[in-house]
Amino acid sequence: MKIFSGRSNPKLAEGICNYLRHPLGKIHLTNFPDGEIFCKIEENVRGHDIFLIQSTCQPVNESLMELLIMMECLRRASVKRISVVMPYYGYARQDRKDDGRVPITARLVADMLVTAGANRVLTMDLHAAQIEGFFNIPVDHLNAGMVLDHYFKSLNVPPEDLVVVSPDAGSIKRALKHQNRLGCALAIVDKRRSSAHDTKQANLTGASVDGKVAVLFDDMISTGGSICGAAQMVKDAGAAKVYVAATHGVLCGSAVEKLNAAPIEEVVLTDTIPLTPERTPNRVKVLSVARLLGEAIRRIHFNESVSCLFRDDLE
Ligand code: R5P
Repeated sequence: MKIFSGRSNPKLAEGICNYLRHPLGKIHLTNFPDGEIFCKIEENVRGHDIFLIQSTCQPVNESLMELLIMMECLRRASVKRISVVMPYYGYARQDRKDDGRVPITARLVADMLVTAGANRVLTMDLHAAQIEGFFNIPVDHLNAGMVLDHYFKSLNVPPEDLVVVSPDAGSIKRALKHQNRLGCALAIVDKRRSSAHDTKQANLTGASVDGKVAVLFDDMISTGGSICGAAQMVKDAGAAKVYVAATHGVLCGSAVEKLNAAPIEEVVLTDTIPLTPERTPNRVKVLSVARLLGEAIRRIHFNESVSCLFRDDLE
């Protein structure tokens, strides 16, 4: 087995290698003066089982292209198998034709990965689980739910004082899992999206949040519009404290300003996307998914079950 990483999330790659006690493979990545990417693998990879780590996060197109070029490079160097490890799968939100003359970029990315040489994919909290079906190669789809819930359990809020809040109808399934694990009540925000930048929160239904600690769970925080609007609604409904949690901290545009101004106790994210200083909210907690990804890599390499990583009792 050899593990390589692109330049999008080197800290997470280091965490994964530390967990596995396995060195990170040597790869030289640089840009030509015109911006094109150059890649050279600096060790023998012939016949090896390769795990290639790259979150296709900002700069999205650069990260994606770098991933494709690294695969092209590995394939031509006669590796046995390439497992692409994409902790964050960019372009996933365009996953269906919800209007005329629009692309399905999640599918396009899947096709590009396979064309470039991917034999399997390991990813985390896809925007829509159905994206797995865009691939004809095996996809292991992990979720960071247990990592987030483990943190909220450590806050020792009595379950009767805690309410899990789904920030929109599309997140109800995820919220139900959190509700089950945390053993508390559930409320749902009715969100209407008018554009990629604007959302409106219309109603709050389900359990009362009055005087409670509310935790909003989403797959990602992008512009922050959805989660900040929902946090405000929950606070206005009387919540004592509002936490927001998401696997992927995309945090683009004015997300950080919005999060800082919102009535939020803490923003809890994982490290699928690295936070740069300018993309770091004031009250943030970053939890690492390195152990989870590392264990999945180990299991894939040794042909062990990966689905058992979802067992609710796994610490
Ligand atoms: C929506 O379907 C997603 O689950 C997220 O709520 C959304 O993508 C977050 O985007 P933003 O932060 O820009 O509102």
